[in-house]
Amino acid sequence: MRRIASALGDARSVVNVGAGAGSYEPRDRAVIAVEPSHVMVAQRDPARPAVRGSAQALPLHDESVDAAMTVLSLHHWHPEQRQGVREMCRVARDVVVIVTIDAAVSARVWLMADYLHEVRELDLRIFPAPEAVAGWLDRPASIEVVPVHRDTPDHTLLSFWAHPERVLDARARAATSGFARQPPEVVRRVVDAVAADLRDGSWDRRHGALRGLEEYDAGLRLIVARAS
Ligand SMILES: C[S@@+](CC[C@H](N)C(=O)[O-])C[C@H]1O[C@@H](n2cnc3c(N)ncnc32)[C@H](O)[C@@H]1O
Repeated sequence: MRRIASALGDARSVVNVGAGAGSYEPRDRAVIAVEPSHVMVAQRDPARPAVRGSAQALPLHDESVDAAMTVLSLHHWHPEQRQGVREMCRVARDVVVIVTIDAAVSARVWLMADYLHEVRELDLRIFPAPEAVAGWLDRPASIEVVPVHRDTPDHTLLSFWAHPERVLDARARAATSGFARQPPEVVRRVVDAVAADLRDGSWDRRHGALRGLEEYDAGLRLIVARAS
């Protein structure tokens, strides 16, 4: 993501916490990927290995990298999210970059507000408010809105905002953890309800204006904290 590269500035060494398969990981700097899950590590390019570890106790010395970043992982660190953010501050000499979701905003997206209440309730529980995260950082932080483009290639529920038809597409659903972690009866209920609302035009009456937008604030947030 271009916004992450720009937030990292001229950092030459970066730890990527909860790195997963390595999406959004910069390719033009020295990266130490830290990831606790065997399954995720196995999906990585063998040329870009990961260190096994977790955010709560990063396997790095104090101030040993220029930057620490984490993308859509912080909500997994519960209940030690604050400790994980402190660890990022401990190891990063300069900048800390956190991509997260403001669940109070994503809760208002039609999919969560009208159909998938299970995800709305879960997200409100597990995502800390961005303002709280900013307060955990030991250096001045900004919180930036990252609008989601209508044709983003990212596979998250936030990419559905302009595309109700994607709810009817099993492959599009399966690519999102939001749908993948729901029981089949919940998925069926949501698919049936969206299909019915598209058929009778009620989705378009309520939300059709979204079809004309290029991008939309679905709750994605970039928190950037710099020591200098
Ligand atoms: C939604 S994935 C995001 C992966 C990657 N950052 C990306 O954007 O593609 C969340 C990642 O956080 C990792 N994770 C879960 N608990 C963690 C912890 N305590 N410390 C660090 N990473 C953790 C998961 O294993 C998973 O790889």
